[in-house]
Amino acid sequence: MSTTADDDVREERRGMFSTRRVFILAAIGSAVGLGNIWRFPYVAYENGGGAFILPYLVALFTAGIPFLFLEYALGHKFRGSAPLSFARLSRGTEGLGWWQVGVCFMIAVYYAAVLAWALSYTFFSFNKAWGDSPDKFLFGEYLKVAETPGLSLDFVPGVIVPLLVVWGALIVLMALGVQRGVGRTSVIFIPVLVIAFTALVIQGLTLPGAAAGLDALFAPNWSALADPAVWAAAYGQIFFSLSIGFGIMITYASYVRRRTDMTGSAMVVGLSNSGFEILAGIGVFAALGFMAQASGVAVSEVATSGLGLAFVAFPAIVNEAPAGALLGVLFFFSLVLAGFTSLISVLEVVISAVRDKFEMSRIAATLWVTIPCALISLVGFSTTSGLYVLDIVDHFINRFGILLVAVVSMIVLAWFVRALPGLQSHLNRDGSVPVGVWWLALISAISPLALGFVLIREFIAVIEKPYGDYPQWMLLVFGWGAAFVVLIAGFLLARIPWRPDTPVHGHDREEVER
Ligand code: ALA
Repeated sequence: MSTTADDDVREERRGMFSTRRVFILAAIGSAVGLGNIWRFPYVAYENGGGAFILPYLVALFTAGIPFLFLEYALGHKFRGSAPLSFARLSRGTEGLGWWQVGVCFMIAVYYAAVLAWALSYTFFSFNKAWGDSPDKFLFGEYLKVAETPGLSLDFVPGVIVPLLVVWGALIVLMALGVQRGVGRTSVIFIPVLVIAFTALVIQGLTLPGAAAGLDALFAPNWSALADPAVWAAAYGQIFFSLSIGFGIMITYASYVRRRTDMTGSAMVVGLSNSGFEILAGIGVFAALGFMAQASGVAVSEVATSGLGLAFVAFPAIVNEAPAGALLGVLFFFSLVLAGFTSLISVLEVVISAVRDKFEMSRIAATLWVTIPCALISLVGFSTTSGLYVLDIVDHFINRFGILLVAVVSMIVLAWFVRALPGLQSHLNRDGSVPVGVWWLALISAISPLALGFVLIREFIAVIEKPYGDYPQWMLLVFGWGAAFVVLIAGFLLARIPWRPDTPVHGHDREEVER
């Protein structure tokens, strides 16, 4: 068995965040992403408006933050990437870590494409390059989307160029390592994001009609609380938005110095993420309220989410608003910043796992991971069929990747490996928020039941009505296929033996006071 000093050397070599503040900013950078800006406002609006705050908070405190505690405990105690942390906990659970790595690989490939579009649109905002019809511009001129869903190899140069820029920047930053790459990017980007987005919210609130937008968002529809779909939406939103179930928080926690307050850190990250989400809701709905008033329609006519909100509704708002170009630049630039720090964290899960398993240098692991990712991203998403594939992969991986692996992990850790008491005492050793029996109850029973319910609903929904208007084969290949491949690949990768230099067993020794 290696000595404690050996462990310290090895840890420094793996990479560390220099301080707790850098770790917290990196974790907030991961959490605050496209999910906050273009997903939350609409999910809240559609699921009861002001009343949605209740299921949202319940989901945050009964599943989100407790699961964040779990991931922090795993990574911080076992000091490895997701597969290594699981393997150190119990060799048989390593596959859960690789499953998360697979999910992150899939997400990285398409998330980069969305960032590339946002980057283009930041520049388009200056002269409103989309003209009078943002809708036709997006699908026709910019993405040149094929008439019917299918596969095409017709490349779209307007997308290839920004995508190359995004991957180029990612490769350089990821190669720089944990502190100089991941940490420093977040330390710079997150304050800039907060400033840019606050400026956007202020500009949004001064637009005529903003109040009607906020009314539409916050008017509570209490009857929504009786609808199980609303509760399911709240749990789904919390997991995606907090970056939990991806292995990200396990990986980041492994770079945090021992004897750190992890529960206090989790509270700061969880609450900051939700705070940003509410801010995004205010900014987006203020702008939508303006648009509704300018076109003389109800807010419900203009409210939308995802691609439609960012790349169609927002350009239309920019066309009408006073100082619209500024609004556009702030919005798309915020998307780029928020998305970039999230994408970095998604890639870090994969790089860290490859590095741990194959004992590779940082640069070698970065190249082994990012070059295939970049190639798949380019081939898959810069063609005229990219949008269709992206939509399907995103829908399935979020549900039958992230949420499924989260439920399975909780059940395995609580009931098969019985790991919770050990993780609880690790958290309590230096944590400022005492972790009591309530946490054991939430992780072993309440959260898995709630998430299991969400998943079963989602499963029934896609079986009853196949997602979108896609041909069956596309759903099978890019939807079910993608979700299945990451699961199988995860368990196959777990069968590869660890290098002799990587101590996998006897890691509980680190619990000894240091
Ligand atoms: N948590 C990240 C987001 O919200 C993945 O986009």
